[in-house]
Amino acid sequence: MRKLFIYLVIIPGLLFISCDKKEPLSKVVQRGLDISTRQSIYLAGELENQMEILPRTYANNELKTAGYKSWISGFFPGVLWYLYENDSLTEIRKYAELYTARVEKAKTMTNTHDLGFMLYCSFGNGYRLTSNPHYLEVLKTGAESLSTRFNEKVGVIKSWNSNGKWQYPVIIDNMMNLEMLSFVAKETNQEHFMDIANTHARTTLLHHFRPDNSCYHVISYDTITGKPHAKQTHQGYSDSSVWARGQAWALYGYTMMYRETGKPEYLEQARKVASFIKNHPNLPEDKVPYWDFDAPDIPNAPRDASAAAIMASAFIELCQLDKSSEAAGWLSLAEEQIRSLSSAEYLAEPGTNGGFILKHSVGNYNKNSEVDVPLTYADYYYVEALLRLKKLKNEN
Ligand code: GLY
Repeated sequence: MRKLFIYLVIIPGLLFISCDKKEPLSKVVQRGLDISTRQSIYLAGELENQMEILPRTYANNELKTAGYKSWISGFFPGVLWYLYENDSLTEIRKYAELYTARVEKAKTMTNTHDLGFMLYCSFGNGYRLTSNPHYLEVLKTGAESLSTRFNEKVGVIKSWNSNGKWQYPVIIDNMMNLEMLSFVAKETNQEHFMDIANTHARTTLLHHFRPDNSCYHVISYDTITGKPHAKQTHQGYSDSSVWARGQAWALYGYTMMYRETGKPEYLEQARKVASFIKNHPNLPEDKVPYWDFDAPDIPNAPRDASAAAIMASAFIELCQLDKSSEAAGWLSLAEEQIRSLSSAEYLAEPGTNGGFILKHSVGNYNKNSEVDVPLTYADYYYVEALLRLKKLKNEN
């Protein structure tokens, strides 16, 4: 009878308890950072002797690369700086410096809005951690180049050059480039960079959002009237759909602009986007979004780990800035995303995935480009989120 009780009640009970017990979050974060370091050292070594080349993705067992002109050029150096910040490894710093230098030529580009991604993730983090004065010079030149794309009449920085379809296209992603302008404005007392950033954020707030607080991907402005003439998509499923990474850029962009300026309208917008994401019926159980919340083949549509990583990082910042009762909800959603991204489903086994950290991101589904692959920006925001979470937990 006693044996039967042990077999039927005690053992299943113990098994249930041990299966249900979650890995402590601090362990999840440390494991994520350890794997990120191992993977990144491997990846950095792979391209060490290939001048001017940066990693982009890994598909069909092949490492794909990019040069400084690509919008993704700054993310891998940024990953290396974050990992150096985490454990001060000399080898990582050497690689961070090497790969950062490969992005420098981007500083004079005036045909792209992506300079914030390219230069602030690389040189910005490098300057924050080393105070290297040359890095600051690069950022100043980059801010000058980026501001040439601002038009007073329209009140936004042009993302892409005009084409047959769009006169003055601005994508929601462009909010992310404002951080570099704000940084340079503060560092050099050149207010006009901050004015451009604020004007861009205010105009975007007026025109990019729908009544339900989701956002369009592309707004194209009429350069004579300064008003939108088209509200469409480039990377989303349709003009009216909810492209996941676009919502992530909006959440991160307005949270960051509130941190930079203290303007309540930015916090309000970030909270609205956060609520939209958190309450969306198509946000899956593991909180890693499908590439588009309206993808027609949900639940079989590909997930976008990059969107989850950007959102998680933004939610961790938002929970510290938002003094409302909703703050705890932003943090618990971020924690769920980090737990999912750190599971075997998304986090690479060391030595696999070409040295990238996360699996299962989507670049441009519409062009069948980089679908269900690792991407450097997924890795960048994942490592940033891990560090933000680590600091938050150490402070409390
Ligand atoms: N900024 C381009 C993208 O998010 O794919």
